Amino acid sequence: MRIDVISIFPSYFDGLTLSLLGKAQHSGILDLRVRDLRDWTHDRHRTVDDTPYGGGAGMVMKPEPWGEALDDVATSTVEATGQRPTIIFPSPAGEVFTQATARDLSTREHIVFGCGRYEGIDERVFEYAASIGEVRLISLGDYVLNGGEVATMAMIEAIGRLIPGVVGNPESLVEESHEDGLLEYPSYTKPSNWRDQPVPPVLLSGNHAAIAAWRREQQIERTRRRRPDLLPEETAL
Ligand code: ADE
Repeated sequence: MRIDVISIFPSYFDGLTLSLLGKAQHSGILDLRVRDLRDWTHDRHRTVDDTPYGGGAGMVMKPEPWGEALDDVATSTVEATGQRPTIIFPSPAGEVFTQATARDLSTREHIVFGCGRYEGIDERVFEYAASIGEVRLISLGDYVLNGGEVATMAMIEAIGRLIPGVVGNPESLVEESHEDGLLEYPSYTKPSNWRDQPVPPVLLSGNHAAIAAWRREQQIERTRRRRPDLLPEETAL
C-alpha cells in the first residue's frame, strides 16, 4: 500500500518509522511518503493561509498549494495503476473513524491524507480533490484537535496494522476489541499471584472450552459496563 501525507508539520510523522510500521516500510509492504505542503508555495514566506472571506476568527488554508500538492501526489496513481486514490481529510466535521473504516481502508492501493490546520482548508479544495479520487472527511472522535496530524497518525496505525504481513501473528488481530463488536477480554501473565491478586483460576485450569466461555462472558460484561452503546438493544448474548 502507498500512503502519502501532506502536512505543514512533516516531522510529526517521524514516529511512524518505529516498531511494526517502521518494519513494514523496510520490507516494502508499506510505502509511506510524508510531504511538506509548503513545498508547493511560491512566495518568500511559503505562505499556506489567509484571512477568511466574510470575516471571522482565525485563518483558512489557501487552495493553491493544496491544488498543486494533490496534482503531484494524487494524480500519479491514476497514471500508474489506473485506480483512483482515496483522499482523506481528517476533520472533526467528518464521519467517525471506526475499526470497520480501518478494515475498509486497509484494502486500498493508495491513500492520501491532507492534514488541515488553522480554521480548516478552503472548501473548494474538497471539490477539486473529488475530481482526482474518492474523498472522505474523517473524524477521530467528538473532540477538536489542533490539526489533522495526530488524527492521521492514529488512522495510519489502525489501517497499517491490518495490511497482511504487518502484524506477525494475524490471529492476534481477530481477538481484539471492536473486531467482533465487543471489547477485548482481560489478559494475564506470570506470576499467578501478584500483590494479593490471583489470576482467575479458570485460566490455569487447562480446560479450553471453559476458558473460551469465561473470556466471552468477560467481553460481554465489560462491554455492558463500559460501552453499552456497542450492544444491540435486545441483546441475545
Ligand atoms: N482535526 C481536528 N480535530 C479533529 C478530529 N477530532 N478528528 C480528525 N481530525 C481533526
